[in-house]
Amino acid sequence: MDTNRLSQTITAALNRQMTNEAHNAQIYLAYAAWADSEGYEGIANFLFRHANEERNHMMKFLEYILKRGGKVKVSPIPDPGPDPTDVNDCFERIFKSEVDNTANIYNLVNMSMEEKDWATWNFMQWFVKEQTEEETLALDLLSKIKVAGGKNAGPDALYALDNDLAKTADDARLAQDVSVENP
Ligand code: FEO
Repeated sequence: MDTNRLSQTITAALNRQMTNEAHNAQIYLAYAAWADSEGYEGIANFLFRHANEERNHMMKFLEYILKRGGKVKVSPIPDPGPDPTDVNDCFERIFKSEVDNTANIYNLVNMSMEEKDWATWNFMQWFVKEQTEEETLALDLLSKIKVAGGKNAGPDALYALDNDLAKTADDARLAQDVSVENP
């Protein structure tokens, strides 16, 4: 008896998205390490926390595939790419990465709707909402660096921004009650 409740197409797409989320985690991890090595400990702390949140997203996909009787395929995670050139570049790349991720999430929603796989469609709604918050968070980072002077932000403004993110890290979306157990 076939207990797999996911189609092959949806299974492949969910597995791809699981890897995308792992890739997102690697991007935040790489940028956090870069920020720390540049002396921006507040920004690094913020990004390290977010890397964990992305890993939780990865786990959420993994657990869903298993729950529906599908086959999980753990694949290599693509390279996060070169380090940012500066804080402005870092925040711009984060925003782009989140927008790209939203497109991937919407694609899965479309696929589940086409297949009338309402369980997956329902599961994906959590991510639709999450991506709105993630884009808002990324836009907030962009606003902060813009106020600090964008590409031309001086050391004083960057110091203030770094302190700001160090202090606000616990209030940010990424510090909410998300965990591997409860993603
Ligand atoms: Fe898991 Fe930032 O999207």
